[in-house]
Parts: sequence; C-alpha cells; structure tokens
Amino acid sequence: MKKSEIKALEENLLIQIKKNPLPEHIAIIMDGNGRWASKRKFPRLRGHHAGAEAIRRTITASRELGLKNLTLYAFSTENWRRPQKEITGLFSLMTRFLKKETAMMLKNDISLKTIGDISKIPIGPQKTLIETIEKTSHCRSLNVFVALNYGSRQEIAYAVTRLIQESEKNSLSNIQPEDIERFLYTSGVTDPELLIRTSGERRISNFLLWQISYAELYFTDVLWPDFSKKDLYNSIIDFQQRKRRFGGL
Ligand code: FPP
Repeated sequence: MKKSEIKALEENLLIQIKKNPLPEHIAIIMDGNGRWASKRKFPRLRGHHAGAEAIRRTITASRELGLKNLTLYAFSTENWRRPQKEITGLFSLMTRFLKKETAMMLKNDISLKTIGDISKIPIGPQKTLIETIEKTSHCRSLNVFVALNYGSRQEIAYAVTRLIQESEKNSLSNIQPEDIERFLYTSGVTDPELLIRTSGERRISNFLLWQISYAELYFTDVLWPDFSKKDLYNSIIDFQQRKRRFGGL
C-alpha cells in the first residue's frame, strides 16, 4: 500500500474513533517478535528491535489520540527462562531505547513508569530506567507503564503481604478488594478498559489479572513488530462497538 493510501485509511479510522468516548487505559501484550524474525530468517533480536519501533509508534499514536495510560508487557517473571544472550540483548535494547526517546517523551509530556520488581533487573538498565522515570515524572498527558519482571500472581501475593504487614491484626478478618488494590503496582490508576494481545495467541499469561476484571479483550493475528497506528485504531473501534454492562443489564 502506498504511504498516501495508508494515511487516508488512518484518517478515515480516526474519524470513526472521534465519534465515541475513548478508553482511558489500554494494556498490550506485545507478542510475536521472535516469529516475525524467524519468518525472515533473522536472529530473534532483530525481531525485538523491530518490536521497539512498534513501541515507539504505539506511544506516539496513543499520545495523539489523547489516551491517559498505556501499559506494555515487556518482560515477565517467566521470561528469565530465555537464553541469557536474549535477555542481555533485550535489556540493552531497552536502555538504548530509553536514552534515545527521553527527549521525545519530554517534548510530548509523556511520563515513563514501571510495574513489576525492577530491583532484579541488571544494574545498568535499572539505572537508566530510574533516571528516565525521574526525568519524566512531571509529565501528565500520557503515562506509559512498562511491565518489567512483572507477574500478576506475584503482584497480588506482594500486595497481600504488604497489607498484612501494615494492618492491625484484628482488621484482617474482613479484607475488601480495595484493601488489596491499595498495594498493587497500579494503585490509583484506572483499570484498563481494553487489553490487546498480538500474534494470534489468546492467553493472558499472568498479566494484570486483577486489573482486567472488566476489560474488553482484543486479539489480533498481527505480529507485534508489524503493529501500526491502523491496528491500534481498529482495536479501539472494535472496543467502542461493544456493550459494556459490568454485570448489570
Ligand atoms: C514478545 O515477542 C517480545 C517481548 C514482549 C519483548 C518486548 C521488549 C522489547 C521490544 C525490548 C524493548 C523494550 C522497551 C520497553 C523499549 P516474543 O519474543 O515472545 O515472540 P515469539 O512469541 O514470536 O517468540
């Protein structure tokens, strides 16, 4: 498709989106970098590089649309099982990405935040992460949450542990959902209304299990490195056509 045709298609989709309220928070399970690379006989890391480009495109498109929160599943607690070379490559790619994109984030009033236990991440990348979080902490238009060393069951177990540590003993006989929520990494952030997973897999894979209780799920066969503005727009249009009842009628 020609560039001008893609632009016309995007504009047409944008007009449809504008007619309805937007989700405030979109979460994405970015999947398929490895398959994208092997289809081209490239090493897996080339797929992750192309995946980082898709991250940049998605952040830009989210900001243009006026989304408030975007949460991206970049590295799970299970991903430590991958070969050491791939893990090192992923973190060094993330470090370069953050250094390169900080200026873009500041210019567009975008803050970077993380969910997950980043204390276990190699020290160099960890430092860059913390620096980027601090530098962009005053930005308000869009929050980008990157899930790193993140697992939802671990998050809930950690929240319950913190709740027990900080509670009077006799107040623990009647724990309410809000009590647990207070200690989740996402405390204070609107739950995602829309969860997208790319690459044709239809699983949640230990991602935001608590927070997606009422989210609409959107699965696409597009591999993450190919995910474009048009795909984000299509997911939102699909979302806007659904009837959300939250258990009511
Ligand atoms: C999914 O594909 C790959 C990831 C979730 C890693 C994403 C991380 C990056 C692109 C690194 C840059 C990070 C930031 C925050 C800029 P997969 O490897 O699971 O693909 P497969 O299922 O096809 O093997």
